[in-house]
Amino acid sequence: MEKKNIDWANLGFGYVQTDKRFVANYKNGAWDEGGLTTDATVTITECAGVLQYAQTCFEGMKAYTTEDGHIVTFRPDLNAERMENSCKRLEMPVYPQDKFVEAVVQTVAANEAYVPPYGSGATLYVRPYMFGSDAVIGVKPSSEYQFRVFTTPVGPYFKGGVKPLTIRVCDYDRAAPHGTGHIKAGLNYAMSLYAIMDAHRQGFDENMYLDAATRTKVEETGGANFLFVTKDNKVVTPKSNSILPSITRRSLLVVAKEYLGLEVEEREVFFDEVKNFAECGLCGTAAVISPVGKIVDHGKEICFPSGMSEMGPTTKKLYDTLTGIQMGRLEAPKGWIKVIK
Ligand code: PLP
Ligand code: COI
Repeated sequence: MEKKNIDWANLGFGYVQTDKRFVANYKNGAWDEGGLTTDATVTITECAGVLQYAQTCFEGMKAYTTEDGHIVTFRPDLNAERMENSCKRLEMPVYPQDKFVEAVVQTVAANEAYVPPYGSGATLYVRPYMFGSDAVIGVKPSSEYQFRVFTTPVGPYFKGGVKPLTIRVCDYDRAAPHGTGHIKAGLNYAMSLYAIMDAHRQGFDENMYLDAATRTKVEETGGANFLFVTKDNKVVTPKSNSILPSITRRSLLVVAKEYLGLEVEEREVFFDEVKNFAECGLCGTAAVISPVGKIVDHGKEICFPSGMSEMGPTTKKLYDTLTGIQMGRLEAPKGWIKVIK
């Protein structure tokens, strides 16, 4: 398969249209067969549930070229499960988990020419999503839906690749205690746009959201969970019902324990204790692990000993091991790698 002529090493995290995408429609209480199409546009009524009341959710995952030339994805079953949870919370019909994985496999295989080569630093980002497509004007769920999967080749989420980030403690909340923070609803991202643009205007790379009820505990950023490393080399990650259950974070806890022999703690993390950590990173599909060098809390700076020039040593080990598993350099735990080709 001849690859597209793309400057893989200089890709940012943006949209590049690829050849095929998967589309399935839900009508009269059932999903149709679905299939691949070359049509990258969506035509819906002006009154669609997604346009009026933001009835939409999505997933994010990546396809990788491994060292020995296979194309694989990482734990797509967990994305399928999380999308089911998102759909249920938004009164949307579930797209069956096995069919979700099959749609991802078909879409990636159909866009093989866009899967960045091994060692290029880029990956193929896969975006499954669903939205209410028929007219609703009273506030209620749609009765028709579309499920789609598209792909786009991407480079690093944060400009500068693995250079440590400077983030700020945010005065806006991301999620309410019994709200939708734990699902991947489009609405969670719409309401974060002002906060992220404001952070950028003030010179910060990202926002650290605190828990909305007490504003004392660390939640997550707009698009990634937190990982901290203590001075005695324990890996600590915040536990909360209002953060997205990151597949990367859950995998990194296994990597820390099983591959690196580190102690791990998933627990409430108070902002007051953050100054005592040795390393901090943001983890997610897009972020992979992006190191944080500095957190600014209303003018007060927390500078991690790992500094502003490179990743901390434990963060680096976690990064190398996780990406080693994803790119086939290290043996993966059973069931983590889905081979597409
Ligand atoms: N938190 C938020 C708010 C996200 O949007 C994402 C991205 O998917 C994550 C965390 C990381 O989750 P995952 O590792 O499953 O990509
Ligand atoms: C992902 O990591 O897949 C996400 O959806 C995060 C988003 C901010 C790009």
